[in-house]
Amino acid sequence: MSACSPKSPAIQPVAKDIHSYGNPNDARVRHLSLDLDVVFEQHTLRGTAILTIEHPNPAIKQLVLDSRSLQIDETEVSPDGTVWREARFSLGKADRILGSPLAIDIAADTKLVRIRYSTAPTASALQWLAPEQTAGGKYPFLYTQSQAIHARSWIPLQDSPGVRITYEARIHVPAGLTAAMSAANCPASGDGSDAKPDCRFVLEQPIPPYLIALAVGDLKFQPTGPRTGVWAEPAILERAASEFSDMEKMLEAAEKLYGPYRWERYDVLVLPPSFPFGGMENPRLTFATPTVIAGDRSLVSLVAHEMAHSWSGNLVTNATWSDFWLNEGFTVYIERRMLEELYGPRRAAMEAELGYQDLREDLAKLPPGDQLLEIDLAGRDPDDGVSNVAYEKGALFLRQVEGVYGRPKLDEYLKAYFDNFAFQSITTATAMDWMRQHLLSTDAALAARIPVNEWLTKPGLPASAPAPNVAVFAAIDRDVAAWLDRREIHTAAWSTHEWLHFLRGLPAKLDAAQLRRLDSEFHFTESHNDEILQEWLLIGIRNQYEPASARLEEFLTTVGRRKYVKPLYEALDAQRAAAIYEKARPHYHPITQATIDAMLAAKNPVTKDSPTKPAVTK
Ligand code: BES
Ligand code: ZN
Repeated sequence: MSACSPKSPAIQPVAKDIHSYGNPNDARVRHLSLDLDVVFEQHTLRGTAILTIEHPNPAIKQLVLDSRSLQIDETEVSPDGTVWREARFSLGKADRILGSPLAIDIAADTKLVRIRYSTAPTASALQWLAPEQTAGGKYPFLYTQSQAIHARSWIPLQDSPGVRITYEARIHVPAGLTAAMSAANCPASGDGSDAKPDCRFVLEQPIPPYLIALAVGDLKFQPTGPRTGVWAEPAILERAASEFSDMEKMLEAAEKLYGPYRWERYDVLVLPPSFPFGGMENPRLTFATPTVIAGDRSLVSLVAHEMAHSWSGNLVTNATWSDFWLNEGFTVYIERRMLEELYGPRRAAMEAELGYQDLREDLAKLPPGDQLLEIDLAGRDPDDGVSNVAYEKGALFLRQVEGVYGRPKLDEYLKAYFDNFAFQSITTATAMDWMRQHLLSTDAALAARIPVNEWLTKPGLPASAPAPNVAVFAAIDRDVAAWLDRREIHTAAWSTHEWLHFLRGLPAKLDAAQLRRLDSEFHFTESHNDEILQEWLLIGIRNQYEPASARLEEFLTTVGRRKYVKPLYEALDAQRAAAIYEKARPHYHPITQATIDAMLAAKNPVTKDSPTKPAVTK
């Protein structure tokens, strides 16, 4: 320990985050205790948040939090939780992206800050679903999506990934409904029979606020192993549990590679189809789209991905949204290692190849600044900077390191990295310094083969980046040619990945007869695999294939996964896009709504100068 600083005991500083108003280096939130009523009739969460704070310097007179569209009724402070005193607060001007700073006066002895508040019906994290938008059709449903900066729309806190907190919660829900959170269910949880069940949760590991999550609905649980299981509405529980039956094995594969799983349980909650993402790595409880339930486990890489975040992302976290690639690039690399372990190298190679195609497509259209691993998000919503660059370019970087230093060395390195930075939030600079010290400097000749700075600060890919593995789909490329020549092709053994490559390999322009032939031979319009269906619907739009248009409309008005719907609206002409969106919009989560609102506004010449077009491609 060094004794060089005579100043008052400082808080370990967090990285500056342009997406938060919080003052964590002066007064830091350490723990959150929530007590919320879920009021479906008013689309509101109402109750209190008690924040445990640390502020060693008595000269600090305010705690500054993030908030968005919250109604703040009262704020109080306390030295010990027994006596409370009303405290003055001020809510700053609302910024379109950041929301409003909430400054609360604190005294030198303040340890606890209690905020009585309610959320707005438009809260950006929350989607309130009517019964008819659920699988069962009988009960309403609510779920949150806090990443990137939406936690502030349902909890007043310092909403920066650098500020880690533990939390506990009491959630009061209407009779017949169950709450689930990214936390352990307390043993005292209600059994669902009381008039107003009171669900209690606690998470002892410190996490960034974007990982706080809540879902309320007609939820039931089915185990898939001793540490794993599935939460879903009863109507889909069985199918979901069978689709995800490999979860326990996945967890073991990941632990073997990267060390112990530190969150005790790993469950997946399957949400209604409006969920804006494929999956969200909420600790202990991944949230997932039902579109991954293909019936043949072909899309379970999503579970591998979210599970991998238990190391890269949840254990070692990006300190700011510019460091997002540390979360996603590392996770994609690990996800593929897990797939390889479980399903063999061919499966992992096919996924990597499809990912490479996605990356190429993004690099062709993104501005140079968005092609860097560490991106500048000044003036932007971090949701709009999400592209395959963080995911696939990030993963390729690690694959290059693997190729140069060898697998055993990289595995050992990553294990030590997760150990060393466990439960910390770090910047790209910190991560790369550590890599230089603990890996690159062990062999200068090998290090010279990895252009780290170019990966981080230059658009595109370095010339030495790992080459795509075109061989893995060579047979499918031949089949595309054969099919176009009207020769017979054998597709019986194809997996989702092969079908996707086939569809992507078709010429951009197809005539009506070809489209009809594709559909009658392979029944794409009737596909129950949403990954394949989405690719087909895109082809249909580009080639004005009328027989798929009803299915397109049905898809867009039920599925809200942003990665699927955005390219479809983009491909549609402005008028048709607007007509379908008018019907579909109420079915989407606010995050998908925001993306499509901005995209269509940019598409429509009348409002050309309104919001900027988001670069988001995920
Ligand atoms: N954490 C992300 C989802 C996310 C990213 C939410 C940025 C908000 C802002 C999650 O782990 C993810 O990457 N999901 C992917 C799944 C995938 C790559 C298998 C998705 O939703 O498509
Ligand atoms: Zn991810």
